Amino acid sequence: MISDLWYKNAIIYCLSVAGYMDANGDGIGDFPGLMRRLDYLHGLGVTAIWLMPFQPSPMRDDGYDISDYYGVDPRYGTLGDFVEFTHGCKQRGIRVIIDLVVNHTSDQHPWFQDARSNPESTYRDWYIWADRKPPNADSGVVFPGVQKSTWNRDPVAKAWYFHRFYEFQPDLNTANPHVQAEILKIMGFWLQLGVSGFRMDAVPFVIARKGAEQKKPIEQYDMLRGFREFLQWREGDAIILAEANVLPRTDLEYFGDDGDRLHMMFNFQVNQNLFYAMAAADCRPLVKALTSTRPRPATAQWGNFLRNHDELDLGRLSRSQRATVFNAFGPDANMQLYQRGIRRRLAPMLQGDRRRLELAYSLLMTLPGTPVLRYGDEIGMGDDLSLPERNCARTPMQWSNEPHAGFTKSDSPTLSVISQGPYGYEQINVAQQRRDPNSLLNWTERIIRMRKEVPEIGWGDFSVLPCGTPEVLALRFDWRNNAVVVIHNFSPEPREIELEVKTGQTSERDLINLLAENHSQANPDGMHSIVLEPFGYRWYRVGGLDYLLKRSEV
Ligand code: NOJ
Ligand code: CA
Repeated sequence: MISDLWYKNAIIYCLSVAGYMDANGDGIGDFPGLMRRLDYLHGLGVTAIWLMPFQPSPMRDDGYDISDYYGVDPRYGTLGDFVEFTHGCKQRGIRVIIDLVVNHTSDQHPWFQDARSNPESTYRDWYIWADRKPPNADSGVVFPGVQKSTWNRDPVAKAWYFHRFYEFQPDLNTANPHVQAEILKIMGFWLQLGVSGFRMDAVPFVIARKGAEQKKPIEQYDMLRGFREFLQWREGDAIILAEANVLPRTDLEYFGDDGDRLHMMFNFQVNQNLFYAMAAADCRPLVKALTSTRPRPATAQWGNFLRNHDELDLGRLSRSQRATVFNAFGPDANMQLYQRGIRRRLAPMLQGDRRRLELAYSLLMTLPGTPVLRYGDEIGMGDDLSLPERNCARTPMQWSNEPHAGFTKSDSPTLSVISQGPYGYEQINVAQQRRDPNSLLNWTERIIRMRKEVPEIGWGDFSVLPCGTPEVLALRFDWRNNAVVVIHNFSPEPREIELEVKTGQTSERDLINLLAENHSQANPDGMHSIVLEPFGYRWYRVGGLDYLLKRSEV
């Protein structure tokens, strides 16, 4: 295969305009502000930006409640500013993907307003209605503890409407061909303005059959092929990155057996088991997750992540595994959310321990797939647990030790920066870390650079190398006549491992360390014995550094 599918080896960085940089001083981040930070992102080395929703919205779910799909919320700027932004990214070789939130609209969207006020409205059938309260109205809520039901009665419509998420987010009737056509139109619009694809929100719900009579969700996977075809006709290299927290047995339904559906999915399976591995120093379930998510078409890719803008969802772990992770990383009730997850940022979860942060990020960079970073994690930003639900991990970017972390000149910003304690902006900020060669920021920049020099990870086939202890994970990637081996020690103790690395029948003598001077030479019997420090990690190239000369064309 020709290796020009950009997403197979991208470094994706997710950010919200609201929290990044405020240029006009009204206390809310905006596109002109983000523009001024593009050189920072370019310098950091990210190759794609995933923008959280920025369309007009009543903002009751941080923009995931859209009231106009074809605009920019005036608080953030104008469509003109948006196009300046996509152009600025293009000039720097950075791609932009944006959220596509079409499972539901805001209840303030004119479609819903028209639909509810007039039974004859053409938009009536764009939503899901019932005359009476459906028997399953209290089940299937996504935000238990906050959301009470999935059906509400609308006094204007005098009918019940379905909402998978909060009650102000009525679900679109995605089976309606007019709604489907509109979804394509929305994609076409933003493609024309310079984006390279979409992070599609809540995909399993978008494609589920909806209605009062539905007992269990039945997914209509064929819809995905329709989205894909349209996208590829309009823009050859545009992609869909799906938010779909599903079981491995349905992965191929989402990717399509022939790679004819979604290009990318977030690997929730690996994400949850990775946190278990870090909490328990036991990689076995992680290995299982890696193996069970291995099958995928050659053109498809996993998006790997540590934390995102939502809670760390642990719903797919066993009860006792989940308890282990809660215990280690979110013991207080206030740190947990929706009875299934942890709402903290990564750095405080790992107690700011630099060794563990590096371990986590080194892993993120070397898991099979493409890494997706969250803004602020490159400097180890913390959270503000006094904020409700997931807002605790959505505080503004900490740029400097100036007032409000240099995020805004306003005295009363809408989002307040973290100003107290070890994660306050006077301790943790970009300006300071940029000057310190040993900072997490500069470490992240270097690890990104190295990740770009190891395309084997994004493109290659991986295998798990036996190394004699469940506390250590050793992965090998093979691609075009080259191989790399990456090793991570999850234990707080040093660990010595024995490893054999073969090419065909021959044991490889040299493992060249890509991050430090300590290379490894095999013993006469062909075994490498490697001592890893507590939470230590290694990236090795197999054989010499002449790998580029050895790389084959196919
Ligand atoms: C998933 C998003 O990640 C989350 O933030 C949002 O609340 C729901 N979808 C509803 O749109
Ligand atoms: Ca502003």
